Amino acid sequence: MPPSYTHGHAESVLRSHRTRTAANSAAYLLPALRPGLSVLDVGAGPGSITADLARLVAPGRVVALETSEEVLVHTRAGVEASGVDGVEYLAGDIHALDVPDDSFDVVHAHQVLQHLADPVAALGEMLRVCRPGGVVAVRDADYAAFTWFPEADGIDRWLALYRDLARRNGGEPEAGRRLLGWALAAGADPTRVTATASVWCYADEESRAAWGVGWPSASCIRRWPNSCWPRGSPRHPSWRRSRTPGAPGRPLRTAGSRCCTASC
Ligand SMILES: C[S@@+](CC[C@H](N)C(=O)[O-])C[C@H]1O[C@@H](n2cnc3c(N)ncnc32)[C@H](O)[C@@H]1O
Repeated sequence: MPPSYTHGHAESVLRSHRTRTAANSAAYLLPALRPGLSVLDVGAGPGSITADLARLVAPGRVVALETSEEVLVHTRAGVEASGVDGVEYLAGDIHALDVPDDSFDVVHAHQVLQHLADPVAALGEMLRVCRPGGVVAVRDADYAAFTWFPEADGIDRWLALYRDLARRNGGEPEAGRRLLGWALAAGADPTRVTATASVWCYADEESRAAWGVGWPSASCIRRWPNSCWPRGSPRHPSWRRSRTPGAPGRPLRTAGSRCCTASC
């Protein structure tokens, strides 16, 4: 049973994830793509990256995998809204993919491993279903590397709370720096793993506003269900001081994100 996915699939979260494109979130993978390749996109979320990948490999087969049929409703809606058809949808768990060995040329997961109980097992599965000579590609955030200016005490407290909560839910918010080690532990060939780093930068008016409004509404206590926070445990100190992690639209923040590709 997968641990609870901290962010959930509320509209505020999906809206933010829909801003992701292959260009702004999977640029490191693009040189490996060409028409006709098959792609498995694991943890596809609202499908904006999936749709871009499908365009880039058309007429190749593309499968979007999510944890349940309910979540796949959002994936399908996102892909179809972007005008791409022919994508297949599969419910499952990255820890135990119901996919034969050597099935795909490219196996991709964006911002998924950080949420998992066993990212090494997940990468092992991604390597298993990737055909020899194919590419496994993962990119994950590294929350401790997030920076912003001007300094904002409320956002500092939000970050401390988020990192605690993600770990209580069985995830690892500093996944970015661990991707290379996880890939090697999963059995990737050390001579064929490439580790790189990239950032999202929220510096213009529009992206600052989107981030500044999006995180507080995604982070409000109603959306982080009580079940995420162990019964009987004291509230995180941040909640005593403030329930509003930062003023909407104010802070300028960059998010450290790292990616790692493993050829197999
Ligand atoms: C942060 S979202 C990323 C969505 C998309 N890849 C993107 O970047 O926009 C993480 C996604 O991983 C999915 N996920 C979480 N645990 C999973 C698991 N065990 N197996 C497959 N997908 C999982 C969640 O449902 C969620 O949609």
